[in-house]
Amino acid sequence: MKLGVVILAAGQGTRMKSSLPKVLHRIAGRPLVGHVIDTAKALGADKVVVVYGHGGDQVQQAINDPTLVWAEQAEQLGTGHAVEQAMFAMADMDRVLVLYGDVPLTQQTTLNSLIQQSHDTALALLTVTLDDPAGYGRIVRVEGHVTRIVEQKDASEIEQRIREINTGILIADRARLAGWLGRLESNNAQGEFYLTDVVAMAVDEGVEVKTAHPVDSFEGEGVNDRVQLATLERRHQQVQAEQLMREGITLRDPARFDLRGRLQHGQDVELDVNVLIEGEVTLGDGVRVGANTVIRNSHIADGVWIKENCVIEDSEVGADSIIGPFARLRPATTLAERVHVGNFVEIKKSDVAAGSKINHLSYIGDTTIGHSVNIGAGTITCNYYGVNKFRTVIGDNAFIGSDTQLVAPVEVGAGATIGAGSTITRDAPADTLTLSRAKQLSLKGWKRPEKQGD
Ligand code: UD1
Ligand code: MG
Repeated sequence: MKLGVVILAAGQGTRMKSSLPKVLHRIAGRPLVGHVIDTAKALGADKVVVVYGHGGDQVQQAINDPTLVWAEQAEQLGTGHAVEQAMFAMADMDRVLVLYGDVPLTQQTTLNSLIQQSHDTALALLTVTLDDPAGYGRIVRVEGHVTRIVEQKDASEIEQRIREINTGILIADRARLAGWLGRLESNNAQGEFYLTDVVAMAVDEGVEVKTAHPVDSFEGEGVNDRVQLATLERRHQQVQAEQLMREGITLRDPARFDLRGRLQHGQDVELDVNVLIEGEVTLGDGVRVGANTVIRNSHIADGVWIKENCVIEDSEVGADSIIGPFARLRPATTLAERVHVGNFVEIKKSDVAAGSKINHLSYIGDTTIGHSVNIGAGTITCNYYGVNKFRTVIGDNAFIGSDTQLVAPVEVGAGATIGAGSTITRDAPADTLTLSRAKQLSLKGWKRPEKQGD
């Protein structure tokens, strides 16, 4: 069975009040339509066609996936018309599954059960029963059998009381669907070509229309405005958080945790409140992360303790290191084992070998630091003079006194000591004290100036 998926994404999304096409608004950092594409691929779709209209170039650029087929619907004449625009690409498919670019959270298991329903019939629908069905197309049944779908605007008072609604998601035999689409008409309240009208056509041809139902009702929910966007974001975060907890991560408060990407982890990881994980992140065994910390595209090895309020980006942190509170690791920072990085320290594009400490108020950029080095409070590597950047190299066991400026390119030898308050512009030899400050003077007989007049 060859499965083609059509994703409808041509709508403008007026209620988002945005210059960005609706389907590019994000949930968990990924565009809405990106979630739907991921689901389609996870189902093993042989072909995925996205029907675009408004902001088509923008959508194609943002998604940038060469395996997709794009079909333009220049004028939005209705959901049936939209699916028809994709059918040219479906010729070699057996079945067509219709998904919606703005219904991002339909689970794979739910869609598999819908696909299952379609095995012995030409049409199956995903429906859900709601307490408040207002606005949706209603599933009309006679003696339990689906006979048609009636849209809210076309429904009689009695039909409006039906609580089983159409999520819009359906699967159909490709050849039969092509025939039905060709016969759609737009003589209805909205003057549109309704995809839902294929149901009555199928029934007329003697097709038994089957239904499947989502495990959770949010799976059929679409995003029309930013309130719904936020609701689905929370729901999605809750699902992710529950999965991580079942896998053995402790979340101090699952309602105050956000994952926007993929988290791989070891055992006994503990995340305090307001931790944000973005992109591809690995947390090793026993990693603890304090409140209000952001970790983006980074690899954190076993036993690391990241204290409160840190920002870590495109970095690697070696085992048993201690970071923060209030530390910032910027891209291309690699820390080996047992490194300590304390408060108000910024490190960028630097390698720090095992056991070295940078504990207070420092900027370390474009630097290589050996093992067991102590960087005193307030040390700055001056890596930039306005045009180019240069490296600083600090050898093993060096001791850099507080408030030192290391003006790159410069090298401090292994075992060297730099006196506090020095500005180091030339290489400092190994195992030697180097300092560059004026001698301390005490002036005898000096008096503080006195205030003149009143
Ligand atoms: C549709 C269904 C309704 C269902 C509801 C579920 C029809 C006629 N009605 O109604 O039964 O309960 O969804 O949310 O199908 N789109 C296009 N091109 C178009 C029109 C729509 O791509 O010409 C896309 C939209 O971007 C949207 C989706 O199709 O993603 C649904 O369109 P919408 O106008 O929201 O349909 P509803 O009136 O909500
Ligand atoms: Mg809608």
